[in-house]
Amino acid sequence: MNLSVLPKKPMKNSTPSKQRLDQLLTSLGYASRNESKKLIASGHVTVEGKQVKKSDFKAFHHDVQFNGEPLDPLQGIVILMNKPVGLVCSHDDGEGQLVYDLLPTRWRNRDPKISTIGRLDKETSGLLLLTDDGQLLHRLTSPKYHVPKLYEVTLDRPLKGNEAEIFSAGSLMLNGEKTACLPAKLSIIDETHVTLEITEGRYHQVRRMFAAVGNHVTALHRTRIGNLTLGDLKVGEYRLLSLDELLTVSL
Ligand code: URA
Repeated sequence: MNLSVLPKKPMKNSTPSKQRLDQLLTSLGYASRNESKKLIASGHVTVEGKQVKKSDFKAFHHDVQFNGEPLDPLQGIVILMNKPVGLVCSHDDGEGQLVYDLLPTRWRNRDPKISTIGRLDKETSGLLLLTDDGQLLHRLTSPKYHVPKLYEVTLDRPLKGNEAEIFSAGSLMLNGEKTACLPAKLSIIDETHVTLEITEGRYHQVRRMFAAVGNHVTALHRTRIGNLTLGDLKVGEYRLLSLDELLTVSL
């Protein structure tokens, strides 16, 4: 990862400190504060292998088990998901099926919340990153941040032939925008299939770029962000990125 996108201050919880058991369970989404107290009182929690029934008992996260299982990771997780078509990058249930519906219920109840890093629109599939780290989210979604993102694009009509030149010029204006799109790299597979690498995240950018040159995108799939790829992840699957990956991946 490019170090400029890493938080300047250490992330919250990056230095392990002891926390109250009820606080731990609640922030990791296991239960509400009151339910957590009841779960602890009824013996679901152990610390270093010994049952602890007092909810104000303070312990290190890594020493605590719930129902004999280690706790979910602390704040600072990054999830790589292969988003299916039809799911929405929003926390609003009213908008339909959400990408968060693919995660375990417990993860959806974490505080701080897990949010997508940028968005893919409902009809777009592919590589999506999510995190509960507000500082990382802020940096990676800042307009100043120009990480390359690669899309596979299926077009309704054959290419005209001048699109690569137009997109790479850095002068393409999209409807309603005040500044031109930064140069983008088009690679042609055949006359209706291309890949496009962009370094911005404007609203519906790829679809609008093709609309601006008189075409229409019929399918859109993101395959890469920085040098992060989907690997073996099937549609709808996700995995946690390890700290090592985050440190070695050039986002
Ligand atoms: N460009 C789009 O048009 N849609 C996306 O979801 C991402 C990039």
